[in-house]
Amino acid sequence: MRKKIVAGNWKMNNTLQEGIDLAIDINKLAAEKADKNVDIIIAPPYIHLSEVGKLIDRDRVLLSAQNCAAEQKGAFTGEVSAEMLWSVGADYVIIGHSERRAYYHEDNTILNKKIKLALDNNLKVIFCCGENLEQRESNKHFEVIKKQLSETVFTLAKEYYDSIILAYEPIWAIGTGKTASPEQAQEIHKFIRSLIAENYGDNLANETSILYGGSCKPSNAKQIFANADVDGGLIGGAALKAEDFIGIVNSFK
Ligand code: 13P
Repeated sequence: MRKKIVAGNWKMNNTLQEGIDLAIDINKLAAEKADKNVDIIIAPPYIHLSEVGKLIDRDRVLLSAQNCAAEQKGAFTGEVSAEMLWSVGADYVIIGHSERRAYYHEDNTILNKKIKLALDNNLKVIFCCGENLEQRESNKHFEVIKKQLSETVFTLAKEYYDSIILAYEPIWAIGTGKTASPEQAQEIHKFIRSLIAENYGDNLANETSILYGGSCKPSNAKQIFANADVDGGLIGGAALKAEDFIGIVNSFK
């Protein structure tokens, strides 16, 4: 059976001390009361990774970066490479987040370089896709998602899928308080799974975890996670409060 996963994307929030405090709280609640059948991942900012990695029980809480460079090493001022992330103990890296695509102009060529470097440097990838409001309203969401995946993760050999988690994050639901309805989430997750099956066969489609992201909270996670093709969540705002985050972890039936 595929894994159930809840990942917290802290985005550009928290000073180092605040991040440490949050990680300690999450780690404590993860040990005390989190559903043992759910993998928990936290994605703090780069500068927190090393410290936070030392504080969490790595058998229970896994560590992700939010981004990595599109080059292996060298004169790229301000960038952080996949190898550096691996060296501070990151297990995962988020690639293809809509905020990176929109604000930092990351196109599929750049995303493919990042995916390759992440995998080559022993990191697993949480790869995001999702449509904007205009695309949804003009009924182009299926086409948009298919293109986003076909030109990136679907170019990978099957063997890499042990290291790939997909996340559907409709842009209109991110940080807006507007969540996709459970039906909308299920419809797209089922569609994504059918695309994996077309490209790689049913077994791989059934084994690949697909997370939902976009205004997910303890109050709506149960309904969203109850759907057959939703394997968990990629959480933004609600991942910044330990109780809420673990509340979401505990939202599977
Ligand atoms: P919110 O949960 O704040 O809407 O953010 C979702 C997200 O972008 C996670 O990557």
